[in-house]
Amino acid sequence: MSGEPISRRRALGLLGLGAAGAAGWATVLGAPLGGRLRPAARGQGLAEPRVLASRDGLLDVRLVAAPGVRLAGRDTTAWGFNGTSPGPTLRVRPGDLLRVRLVNHIDQPTNLHTHGLHVSPSANSDNPFITIKPGGSHDYTIRVPARHPAGTFWYHPHHHGTVADQIFAGLVGALLVDGAEGKSDLPVNDDRLLMVTDTTLDGAGRVASPTMMARMTGREGELVLVNGQHQPVITAAPGSLQRWRIINGCVSRVLALRLDGHRLTQVALDGVFLRAPVDRDRVVLAPGNRTDLLVRPTGSGRYALVSDPYDRGSLGKMGNRPSTSGPVTLATLATAGPATTTTPSVPATLPAPAVPQGPVTGRRQLTFAMGAGRMGMGGMSFTIDGRTYDPDRNDQSIALGAVEEWTVVNTSPMDHPFHLHVWPFHVLAGSAGMPPAGVLQDVVLVPARGWVRLRIPFSDFAGRSVFHCHILDHEDLGMMATVNVRGQ
Ligand code: C2O
Ligand code: CU
Ligand code: CU
Repeated sequence: MSGEPISRRRALGLLGLGAAGAAGWATVLGAPLGGRLRPAARGQGLAEPRVLASRDGLLDVRLVAAPGVRLAGRDTTAWGFNGTSPGPTLRVRPGDLLRVRLVNHIDQPTNLHTHGLHVSPSANSDNPFITIKPGGSHDYTIRVPARHPAGTFWYHPHHHGTVADQIFAGLVGALLVDGAEGKSDLPVNDDRLLMVTDTTLDGAGRVASPTMMARMTGREGELVLVNGQHQPVITAAPGSLQRWRIINGCVSRVLALRLDGHRLTQVALDGVFLRAPVDRDRVVLAPGNRTDLLVRPTGSGRYALVSDPYDRGSLGKMGNRPSTSGPVTLATLATAGPATTTTPSVPATLPAPAVPQGPVTGRRQLTFAMGAGRMGMGGMSFTIDGRTYDPDRNDQSIALGAVEEWTVVNTSPMDHPFHLHVWPFHVLAGSAGMPPAGVLQDVVLVPARGWVRLRIPFSDFAGRSVFHCHILDHEDLGMMATVNVRGQ
């Protein structure tokens, strides 16, 4: 280390914080040094949020968004639904009615989005244009189609301008769609949910506010949590078959997942089954993405589930490269006890939902860009086709039934995860050369100065909704646009 008298790095070192934390503070968050919440002893068993499951075709729940949850084993003033972050796991089946009364007990407007669900965007369904004022409430009625694929989805607020703040503060929850008869679609020994979030808490348990620079980069929290816990332990019998449903609920952080001593068998992306299991050393999840993994613990020992550094670019000449510090441990797999004798095998093929076919009826090109303008006015512009978000403007008009091919071009020096509500898409190709997953997904990373080509069937659900960058700071800064699907 060089001889500067009190470098920020050394000052942090004196406070007992690692270099990774130092990088996070110095560059991403502008909060004063000192006074960070210390996670309670790590190594607690993985706990899952309470499950609220549908009965007789109906799930009727009340979700209260309010401050005061436990995170990392500590009391905080972070936000949750019904007193926890993540909020309760909602479990429905195809054909069910999901009724949610969302009660707003936070001090800013909010609303609800069912991320990844193929449901109506209109009226009181998955409508991102709704505003619930502080003290108010709203009744959502969401009909899950009878042919909706089973899988791992999630819910979070979507009130433009404060989405990143509210997710960073803890307002997330899982939303699982079970198979049609509620049957297990994939026999395993353990089926677990791992909702990954990140946040930064001061010594009093308050959520830190980001600097303008951090918002432009996309804030990454210093604490990476799984189900609100810091580095929990997942205990499993040797030889058992584990299904881990992992949701990247972070505002901006890309997860590059790896499990020490094991290969990961990916069976689903963004909720839905792949055609066949794929073995991987690492699974990359952009914010908003989900994956279901099969893990078969070997031997007996402790293995870290880590997220490796992922370079998602920078603001260009303004500097500030996020997420290039060391790997982050998310959880530990502890294998112990006698080997499982009743072990389902990994199936050779999976019940992937059918991919709608049909000729392409229209092609569009969309450009995600970061402009250097307006520096004196608080930073760069984040645009789609040169414009920032306006909820009253129709940016893309589409006839119901169209099958479109969209090329999403990214002219900026940062990756942007493209996300479209309601209508999932296939990735056909992309500049990074990654093999397309071959199934419908709802978030895809568009590499810095790169592109992806998508095929989107708008075969049902007329109505207006949005697409945006799922680095939610970018979305709040305007990198969002509307789509209007017109019925016949
Ligand atoms: Cu998970 Cu519009 O977002
Ligand atoms: Cu969404
Ligand atoms: Cu972005």
